[in-house]
Amino acid sequence: MLVIGIESSCDDTSIAFVSDDGKIFSNTVSSQISLHNKFGGVVPEIAARAHLDYLDYTFRTSIEQAGVDIRAVNVVAATCGPGLIGGVIVGSTFAKTLAAVYNKPFFAINHLEAHALSARLENKEVKFPYLLFLMSGGHCMICLVRSPKKFEILGKTLDDSVGETFDKVAKMLSLKYPGGPEIQSLAAKGRPVFDLPKPLYKKQGCDMSFSGLKTAVRNLINDQGKITEKFKADVCASFQKVVCDILVQKAEYAINLCQKNRIGVSDIVIGGGVAANRCIREQLNKIAYGKCLNFFAPSLKLCTDNAAMIAWAAIERMKIGDKGDSLEFRPVPRWPLSQ
Ligand code: KG4
Ligand code: ZN
Repeated sequence: MLVIGIESSCDDTSIAFVSDDGKIFSNTVSSQISLHNKFGGVVPEIAARAHLDYLDYTFRTSIEQAGVDIRAVNVVAATCGPGLIGGVIVGSTFAKTLAAVYNKPFFAINHLEAHALSARLENKEVKFPYLLFLMSGGHCMICLVRSPKKFEILGKTLDDSVGETFDKVAKMLSLKYPGGPEIQSLAAKGRPVFDLPKPLYKKQGCDMSFSGLKTAVRNLINDQGKITEKFKADVCASFQKVVCDILVQKAEYAINLCQKNRIGVSDIVIGGGVAANRCIREQLNKIAYGKCLNFFAPSLKLCTDNAAMIAWAAIERMKIGDKGDSLEFRPVPRWPLSQ
């Protein structure tokens, strides 16, 4: 069984071919970063047009890399939300056209569910229910994943997502978009010398908040006379450390909550672009180890937006008997996880 996945919800146009045993034949990503960089973030209208421009090339490249015949594809899957609606319409319409022309089932994929399931594409031993840290540019939550269609949110950010916070702090320091990788590499050259706040750190429960931290970084920068490279590196190191501390504390709460409610969780999983962060991966791995739990993180290419996870989400749904969606399915800009 071969599935084509199509992703276009933000600033990456991606097409992948994945088989139901989890073999990734190709996972081509055409990034639009160079188009958005000068604006310091993604411009929705530019993104939608760029998806239209990049789709054909990405499709041809992905087919070539996979070495497959499009007629060998059994199922077509595309992100149908949540995300920037222009891009989602472009990608999902392309996918529906393929499904209609080749008479194949169509799966309308929730982008967040795809991030949530991506660790299982490479690690078949990840077992339901698992504790998930879902951290992308637009979302930040801790969930209990009971099945490919059943997600229980234990806590989420009350304001900014963690990815958005990385991006905004990077912008304050005049670093490039996306900010996460920039902050990570600069942090490695600095020391966490600044004392930054940890909102909701001591509050029991899994809700998070990052906006106060962002404001504290802004004040720190405004109070600094000369912005040197050393200062920037120390801000990045301090900021990244505080984010890690908050996530570790929340992981502790989440694990305790599961134990208290006798939910047999043995795996901690992370997903979404921020899951690519080395420090966050190490710290969450450490706490999992300390609690005798397994820790799984997708490889870096499967953390940030990609179409292999979209194809895989369809495969996960098929494995529980789902037959797909109608070609009439309308893209959903705000689409929560299935409860
Ligand atoms: O999942 P994703 O690729 O797109 C969305 O669905 O939003 O996540 C993008 C986010 C951006 O905010 C980016 O700065 C962040 O993931 N990110 C990182 C790293 N790589 C990407 N954040 C921290 N450290 C990284 N290494
Ligand atoms: Zn994403």
